[in-house]
Parts: sequence; C-alpha cells; structure tokens
Amino acid sequence: MSADFSQVQAKDTDENLIEQAGRPGDPCAMVIFGATGDLTKRKLIPALYNLAKDNLLSKEFALIGLARNVLTTDEFRQKLSDEVAKFAGEPVDPDLWHWFSRRMYYIPGEFDNPEIYQALDLVLKQADEEHGTRGNYFYYLATSPNFFATIVAQLGKAKLVQEENNRWRRVIIEKPFGRDYESARSLNADVRKVLEEKQIYRIDHYLGKETVQNIMVFRFSNGIFEPIWNRRYIDHVQITVAETVGVETRGGYYDSAGALRDMVPNHIFQLISLVAMDPPISFDADIVRDEQTKILKAIPPMSEEDVLTRTVRGQYGEGHEDGQTVQGYRSEASVSPTSRAETYVAMKLFVDDWRWADVPFYIRTGKRLKKRATEIVIQFRRAPFMLFRQTSVEQLNPNRLVLYLQPEEGISLSFGAKIPGPVVRIGGVQMDFRYTDYFGSKVSTGYERLLYDCMIGDATLFQRSDMVETAWSVVAPIQDVWEALAPRKFPNYASGSWGPKEADDLLERDRRHWVNPE
Ligand code: BG6
Repeated sequence: MSADFSQVQAKDTDENLIEQAGRPGDPCAMVIFGATGDLTKRKLIPALYNLAKDNLLSKEFALIGLARNVLTTDEFRQKLSDEVAKFAGEPVDPDLWHWFSRRMYYIPGEFDNPEIYQALDLVLKQADEEHGTRGNYFYYLATSPNFFATIVAQLGKAKLVQEENNRWRRVIIEKPFGRDYESARSLNADVRKVLEEKQIYRIDHYLGKETVQNIMVFRFSNGIFEPIWNRRYIDHVQITVAETVGVETRGGYYDSAGALRDMVPNHIFQLISLVAMDPPISFDADIVRDEQTKILKAIPPMSEEDVLTRTVRGQYGEGHEDGQTVQGYRSEASVSPTSRAETYVAMKLFVDDWRWADVPFYIRTGKRLKKRATEIVIQFRRAPFMLFRQTSVEQLNPNRLVLYLQPEEGISLSFGAKIPGPVVRIGGVQMDFRYTDYFGSKVSTGYERLLYDCMIGDATLFQRSDMVETAWSVVAPIQDVWEALAPRKFPNYASGSWGPKEADDLLERDRRHWVNPE
C-alpha cells in the first residue's frame, strides 16, 4: 500500500477512539480436545492469556486439556509454560501466568474411550469447587475432524452438555466442517442429535480478524458508502487471499483437501457475504447470519460448462521464494508425487440478487504466491470519458476502494487528480488509512474475540449449520467436475509467481485484470 497523495486526517479525538473495555467472560471451564497440538500452543493458550491480561477472562476460570499423549497435569502446565514464552508475542507476566497455570488440568486418553469422559466429569466438578466455574463449560474440538462426531456423542452420553439450572454448555468445532455437502450435512445431523444449534459454535478463524470484522463497521457506520454499494456503481469485486508459504508440515491433510476445500466455502465465502450482505436490522447473531446466508444462497451453483470456463485450478512447481529455490508441491513431505491436489484456485462468481446482479466477484487464493496478502478490491464503474476527449488524457481510471485485511491492515481509496501544469493530465492518487496509525498495534492471535464471544454466548461470528451447508452446495459442482476431469498440466505455476496464466485469462476475457498486492 503506498501513500501517493495524502493521509485521511484524524477527526476523532483520542477519547472517541479509546476502546470500550468489555465485561469479563462468564465464569466457566474450557475443555480442549487435542490439547497437545499446534493450535493449542500457537493460538488458544496465547489468546486466553491475552484475554486474562485485558481482564476479559473471568477470575473464575479453569482449563482442562485432553489428548492422547501421556502427561501429568504438572507436565502439561510445564509444557504450556515453555510454549507460551515462544508464542505469546511479548514477555509473559509471571504472576498472571502463575495464576493461569494453577487453573490447568490434563487428562490423557483416546477420544472414543468413555472412561476419559468420566474422568472429565470429575475434573469439571473439581474445577467448579476450586475455581468457581459454576457448571458453565465449553468444549473446544481442536482435533482431527474424524473425531468431531465421536467426541460430541461421548459428551452427550456422559451428560456433559446438558444445560440446566442456568448453566451453559457449548461446543466449538474447528474447521474443516465436512469435506463436501454430504459430509457437512451428516456431521450437522450427528451433532444436532446431541446439541441444540445455539450450543454449537462452528469456528472460522477469519471472523476473528479485526479487519474482517471491520468490513461491517466500515459499510454500516458510514453513510457515504452504502448508497453506492451496488450494481449501479460497482463494476466488479476482487478477493485475493495469497500466501507465500507452501503446505509446510500439513501435506497429509492438504493433499486430500486442496485449496478449494481448504479456503473457499469457509474463509472466502465469509468475506463475500460480509462484502455483499444487506444491512441487518440489528447485530443480533441470527439476524446478521440470516443476511449472510441470503448472500450464499444467491450465488448460483455452476453448470459443468461454467466450471470449465469460470474456474481455474493450479498447483505450484519449483520456484523462488525470498531469493531461495523452493521445491514444487509434489516434492513436499506426505504429498503424492503424482498429486492432483490444487494449491491455487481462481473463479468468477455472481451474487444473483437485486443489488449485485451481473457484478462479477473474482476470487483467488493460493499457496507459494508472490506475496502474502489478503485484500478485497471494490472497483467502481468508470466515469464517462466525453469531457476529456479534447485533452491529452487517454483514458480515465476507475475508482477503487481496497480493503487490506492482512498483513497490511487498512483501507485505501484511489481517484484521479489533476497533475499541476498547463496541460490537463490526470494522476492516480490514493487516500490511505492504516490501522496502526490510528489505533496502534496490539498483540493478538485472532482467537481472543472468538473465545470471548463463546464465553458470553454471542454466536454472531460463528457459522450456522445452514451457512455451512449452503457454502458446500455452491462448491459441490466444482468439486464434481474437478474430480471427474484430471487437471491437464500440473504443476502449472512457479512458486513465487502470481499463479497460473489461466487465472489472468479469466479476467482478461472480461477486459479486466487482477489488482496484484504491491
Ligand atoms: C487455514 C487453512 O484455515 O487458513 C490454511 O487451512 C491457511 O491452509 C490458513 O494457510 C490461512 O490463514 P491466515 O490467517 O494465515 O490467513
């Protein structure tokens, strides 16, 4: 992002910008299934610690870890202490950590063994007595998806999810929620045998990102954008979720998932729904999610012909990343040397409703691309050229609003301005807003808000069953065609590039081009 022109001036006073500190979450115990895994150490524990630091974690809190590894509670506490030092992102306050670690327990065992649920029941009762957690429990399923239904069934059998006497019981389910429409439906059916919908928190970590949450605030707290946020003024929308990393250590999972499943029906569809939704009548969880679901339902599923002409898949080959030669996808650990898995996806979608009819939404995501960046480009229609016919101006550039979600966090608006001088010439300039300039930067894992919301019973930022199923039904025809037709020339893009040439063609056919992150 470059500040070619000028910065938006601050109109707000500092007082206006001071964050309203929320109330602490309810007294509760959090149970993590898969407590010795990556997610726990990298995200969940640092997020809980950050909440405690901000007084958003109840003083009446306990954490119970479950996993296969045979550890004692003391060893578990020690392991998390060692890891938090690495993943907290700043020096850990020893007193706060001491307080926190005294509330941690560990139960080793297999997730399908009923005995660990009996042990869990006892430890939860102990936590209620020792830490005042009042019978409020939430279970975080940070395990392989194969265990989701089993764990929920076992929790049900052990009567650990019954809400009685003002106690709440909730379950957070990590992604991936199913691998296609059928499996998502069947998982929904399995968990609904045990839990009510209001107890289920299906996580999409993109909704934990401040800048993603800001899409709604930006659109609905400013009067000037909403009137032009439609097909009359917007030419098209582009969403880019580009990563520079390869599959790292996740080859096993990724090779059977691929980029479409991994990123599109979840993260990218969340972004589309937030950009395209109508203003909800309140921020009530179901009202916001009704509006988001309407958008997903308005994306017409593709015909076979559409899949062939409007989607592109790619797989990275060898190339360069930060000056280093990196191997192609098929040489990565736990990946088949003849793998057909795509590591890149681009497509053109429509949202067929009154506001968006005929406005293309171009989306793309991939690994080992040139730059790590998540950006949403709203490109407005060009102004009529006729006034400039007699001048040396050759064309007018369309205005663009870009929402930078990561790693840059900000918003910029581009427009044309007269370049000083006797001849009429137009320069493209930008008004830039950067989060850090106004609000400073704060260490955050992106999971704080999601964990906190679960502790206060706000499901707005979690996916409802109908959203998940609708999203899978939109990608189903693409999965079918791609499975039936082997990709022709994988690998088809070099690591460190902007993806396969076919993705450029997709837009060029419409006389448009990708706006590559700078
Ligand atoms: C995960 C995907 O859900 O999101 C990963 O499984 C991907 O493959 C990650 O790398 C991207 O998340 P973020 O927050 O780094 O954009």
